[in-house]
Amino acid sequence: MKHRAFSRLAVPAAAALIALTTGCTGSTVHGRPGASGLRDPYFPKAGNGGYQVEHYDLDLDYDPADGELNATAVITARAEQGLSSFNLDFSGLRVEEVTVQGAAARYNRSGRELTVRPAEDLEKGEVFRTEVDYRGKPQPLTDPDRSKEGWITTDDGAVGVGEPVGSMAWFPGNHHPSDKATYDITLTVPKGYEAVSNGELASRTDTAEGRTRFSWHSPQPMASYLAVAAVGKFKVTTGRTPSGVALYDAVVPGEAAKSAPALARLPEMVEWGSGRFGPYPFGTAGAIVFPEGSLTYALETQTKPVFSGAPDEKLVLHELAHQWFGDSVSPKSWKDMWLNEGFATYAEWLWSEDRGGTTAQQYFDAFLAGDTDVDPEAASDWAAFPPAAPPGPEEISEAPVYYRGAMVLQRIRQEVGDEKFFALLRGWAADHRYGNASTADFTAYADQKTGRDLKKVWDVWLYGEGRPTARATS
Ligand code: ARG
Ligand code: ZN
Repeated sequence: MKHRAFSRLAVPAAAALIALTTGCTGSTVHGRPGASGLRDPYFPKAGNGGYQVEHYDLDLDYDPADGELNATAVITARAEQGLSSFNLDFSGLRVEEVTVQGAAARYNRSGRELTVRPAEDLEKGEVFRTEVDYRGKPQPLTDPDRSKEGWITTDDGAVGVGEPVGSMAWFPGNHHPSDKATYDITLTVPKGYEAVSNGELASRTDTAEGRTRFSWHSPQPMASYLAVAAVGKFKVTTGRTPSGVALYDAVVPGEAAKSAPALARLPEMVEWGSGRFGPYPFGTAGAIVFPEGSLTYALETQTKPVFSGAPDEKLVLHELAHQWFGDSVSPKSWKDMWLNEGFATYAEWLWSEDRGGTTAQQYFDAFLAGDTDVDPEAASDWAAFPPAAPPGPEEISEAPVYYRGAMVLQRIRQEVGDEKFFALLRGWAADHRYGNASTADFTAYADQKTGRDLKKVWDVWLYGEGRPTARATS
């Protein structure tokens, strides 16, 4: 603990009054409250201002029998301004204690915001440690598009997932993709259960209380919406790709046989992606498969995507492609979702093309023509809005973000040719590796990297209203 001339709490009443009116505490540190949201165009209250998280250390003890979670989150962050208070995004559950730099902190909750008031103001640049002890039965959250995220109970366990803002249902944090951090996630569950999270399994120990403790370590930065906690009676298989990426698949027994063909191709897919997009960004890959109907979607949780029921090859490839596009290169805001979904969809087309199947150009033509023989999704309303401008938060996972997003990439390829196009994909993944990027970053990068002015493609395909009709620049 640091020592300062005045502690904020020790200032006499009169001085405190002056401090209030002058905005000065009298201590050597002048803090002000951090913002309660990052003004994301679709989720303005997501994330918080005034600090950036460096590391999350989550210790979650979960009992599937009664759904009770008993947890501690230790958040190491750097103050970006003097802070008299700061917010964490957190939903539900009971907060039992909060400390900052080891000293008890005052806090209050309002909706999904947990405001923490440290005993002493934090200095700009200071790295500080916040510990939150909390417990209760975590709940699902409903997305603007009515799908469920947050904490979902399954047939024989539970899963914590968070795209776009569900992670606040199971741990407090700076829940916006622009604040990436490293993670240690420890899950303690009754013996007989498996517990799976992102990254590598650092240890697995049986406790004296008849429980098993799984410690998972993510050394590369991760956006909080990509964190996963999975509890179930999984069948676990491990392995390694030819180039040495560790594999960890956790599959519920009921889905194991049906999942096997697609999951068997994961090593080949990792190698293929490394050739097309540059080195696989993480040390581990794999999959978590829950019973069908557990979730209404699959999710690209970092290093280990989650599937609801046995995935087919295309879906495994899609979530793997997100590891480059979405997980390593993450969106700056939720408006940039097409940088995730358009790219992952394009990867499906490319995988097919590289295996002698339908080419990306044939997919592109099929969507233009609405040819459902090539892809049933060609009948979707893929032109309903421009991919870089979904009308609202309930639309960020809709068809145009995926399919018209992928068509944008094919349009670039048509303009610049294969050599420049694939150099662009690799360069993009390399340039923003482990970081964040926006649509404007992408268009500027593409123009510069290909040496072409692609403005017409952006105007018509990325930002334009209405249904583009031709493959030329109209
Ligand atoms: N990112 C996921 C995927 O494409 C889909 C998430 C859908 N979420 C939702 N709220 N609709 O793999
Ligand atoms: Zn996706």
